[in-house]
Amino acid sequence: MSWSNRLFCALIVSAAILVCGVAQTEVKIIAHRGASGYLPEHTLAAYAMAHAMGADYLEPDLAVTKDGVLICLHDMTLEATTDVADVFPDRAREDGRWYAVDFTLEEIKQLTVKERFSRRFPQETHLFQIATFEELIQLTQGLNASTGRDVGIYPELKDPVFYERAGHAFSALLLEMLEKYGYTGPDANVYIQCFVPTTLKRLRDDLGAEQPLVQLISNRSLQDALVTDEGLDEIATYAQGIGPHKNRIEKDPTLVSRAHARGLVVHPYTFRDDVTPDKYASMAEELRVFLTEYNIDGAFVDHPDIMKQVIEALD
Ligand code: G3P
Ligand code: CA
Repeated sequence: MSWSNRLFCALIVSAAILVCGVAQTEVKIIAHRGASGYLPEHTLAAYAMAHAMGADYLEPDLAVTKDGVLICLHDMTLEATTDVADVFPDRAREDGRWYAVDFTLEEIKQLTVKERFSRRFPQETHLFQIATFEELIQLTQGLNASTGRDVGIYPELKDPVFYERAGHAFSALLLEMLEKYGYTGPDANVYIQCFVPTTLKRLRDDLGAEQPLVQLISNRSLQDALVTDEGLDEIATYAQGIGPHKNRIEKDPTLVSRAHARGLVVHPYTFRDDVTPDKYASMAEELRVFLTEYNIDGAFVDHPDIMKQVIEALD
């Protein structure tokens, strides 16, 4: 089906949603960096746990190694989540930071991953390696085969300008890997997400990406234009959804209905059971509000099991 026909169908569905509310069974649980509330983020263990907890999508942020391999990593630098300072004490840049792009995959694999937050998995426990994006895909497809489920992936092109300037064809590397594992066409079980509109437009227009795209929208004022009617009109020309900071929806709940009216799904980030805004008693309560009052279509969560319980209780 062409994107214009898909947009037409989406508008009809959106109209039905406006009348009936979002069907809770369709709400997507996006495991943010894996089940990162329980295990160190971006590790295969965290992704496996999220799959077992019932996530619909496993979310990796992506970075690129010196030798051009996609790895699952949030920061451009390694020191917050690995023991790089101990293993390679002399490899920091002048700013005192260790950049992933300065290390080969063979070097990256010598590191062990530690928990980012002291309140979560014990930070002194170093059981895990940095995962490549390919390993995450193999894990996902392996678990899908062994469990009979069809969990998707939700990769984010993180800091694309930085990696392109470093000489890496970041977007092309992503598309090559998706193609290798069958994530092709508009119905592929994948969303490609990015904060940078030009990167998404280039994926669609220049690199021929047909996969669903999601425009991330931060809470910073420099992205305010994206949530205007004109901004959403523009996003709808190249993307199938938006991933706004959750505070944007609280500030202006019409963002959801205005996005739906343009055929865009709405997946806000990030819901955590150990960092809940004061006005909510728990992440479960916060999610219930976003699902029943704001009609979101899915959410990035550090605790997929809690979102699963909330959805089941609403069904
Ligand atoms: O990708 C959605 C959300 O994860 C964006 O925030 O910084 O956790 O990647 P961040
Ligand atoms: Ca992300």
